[in-house]
Amino acid sequence: MAPVEKSESRSSMRNEHVRRRPGRSLRPVTLRAAALAAAAMTAAVLGGCSSSAGGTATSSSTAGATVAAPGNATSGAITWWASPITTSGADPRTVLLSAFQKAYPNIKVSLISAPTDTDTNRATLTTQISGGAGPDVYMGDVIWPAQFAAHQLADPLSKYLPSSYFDTFAPGLVAGATYKGQVYGAPFFEDQGFLYYRKDLLAENHLKVPTTWEQVMTDSKAIQAKGQAQYGYVFQGASYEGATCNYMEFLTDAGGTVLNKDSTSSTINSAAALKALTFEQQLVTSGVSPKAESTYQELQAMNEFSAGKSVFLRNWDYGYSTSQAAGSAVIGKVGVAPMPTFTGEPTPGYSNIGGWNLYVNPHSKNVAADLTFIKWMTGSDAQNILATQFSEIPTNQAVRESPAVIKSNAVLAVVPQTKLVPRPAQTPFYPAVSTAIYTNVSAVLAGSKTPAAALKDADSAINTALSGGGL
Ligand code: GLC
Repeated sequence: MAPVEKSESRSSMRNEHVRRRPGRSLRPVTLRAAALAAAAMTAAVLGGCSSSAGGTATSSSTAGATVAAPGNATSGAITWWASPITTSGADPRTVLLSAFQKAYPNIKVSLISAPTDTDTNRATLTTQISGGAGPDVYMGDVIWPAQFAAHQLADPLSKYLPSSYFDTFAPGLVAGATYKGQVYGAPFFEDQGFLYYRKDLLAENHLKVPTTWEQVMTDSKAIQAKGQAQYGYVFQGASYEGATCNYMEFLTDAGGTVLNKDSTSSTINSAAALKALTFEQQLVTSGVSPKAESTYQELQAMNEFSAGKSVFLRNWDYGYSTSQAAGSAVIGKVGVAPMPTFTGEPTPGYSNIGGWNLYVNPHSKNVAADLTFIKWMTGSDAQNILATQFSEIPTNQAVRESPAVIKSNAVLAVVPQTKLVPRPAQTPFYPAVSTAIYTNVSAVLAGSKTPAAALKDADSAINTALSGGGL
């Protein structure tokens, strides 16, 4: 599938490739309007039970609970399953929770700390929810809607909340949380891949911020040769979801794709994919990236960078605030830029879209309080906290556009320049598709497979997954 050209922008996770017009904010109204219309239709079809499109919610009943004016409950007790969000410094979850408890003292929220690794997180939740248990509200990855919807692991929020609520989000995010016309998650924060760099080291060496992967390689080698940094570029190469995110960026920069248009077969065994994977391999064999890259998740890469050991880092938005938190060796020395691309390709390179939504467990007995909590967490108070204290990209459009917020968030200032690519998560078989990618990418980084053999294996595992054989 060819990348969607500039007429399309950040949009649904359903488009495998999405480009954003530089300096222009986000995606076309049409896709979003379609998603909203679909969500509205769903609400209507579900039977006057909860909300009318754009109208005032009345009441609905689910899992034995009556929901009066969804999102307006003021008492109850719920559990919130959420992974840590950042890797050091203050914990955003507890900061948010204490603000929520001030606003709603009679809704008691118990935080359950979820596994950091999104794959382990998903596997644990899947087991709990399919066994009829699990938390009331959970923070879940943006790549989950298709799988979770197909397996009834999330309650559609469009069943309860009016389209005016979904209209508060930045364009594209609701479409990404929609599966077969129903909205499953409330976008909580958005992640994108960024290039973090050492301003001081680049200045000292009279180097500009690199815009190509080849420059990242040469600049790194030059700085490493002078002994100013142990590594050039640290990223996520362990055998887990993060390696898929990183590979999506190299792959899309090289012009490759993972799936065909209908998500029915693999397109990964291509010359472009080979170029991308060979480059990743060379990062390690050249010593620009650590020998142990095949074991690095976000935390390990972040720690090397914050310790002053690497010139460049690929990480999500919170990488900035984390690099500036107490204990970091690079406070005041870090710049943030869009991702590089391969020489000869239009700049910037692609940033993978990540992020997390808030979902309701279909077994929750406290839906009224769940909805109040979700509405607050996606409203302006919580979104301001996430954006101004943790350099997260807010999902709430008004907060995102606020000049004060933009001024306080170094990453948000770069967002208008990024070019985005989602992962091919439009298929419920995505977990197995991604496993096929990250196990093979990581094996190349570990030196146990050649790029060509890895792509051949990934190709066949993806096709098996798409035929329903990989789950
Ligand atoms: C971040 C992203 C998420 C992604 C994960 C991979 O948490 O927000 O979408 O799956 O990293 O490690």
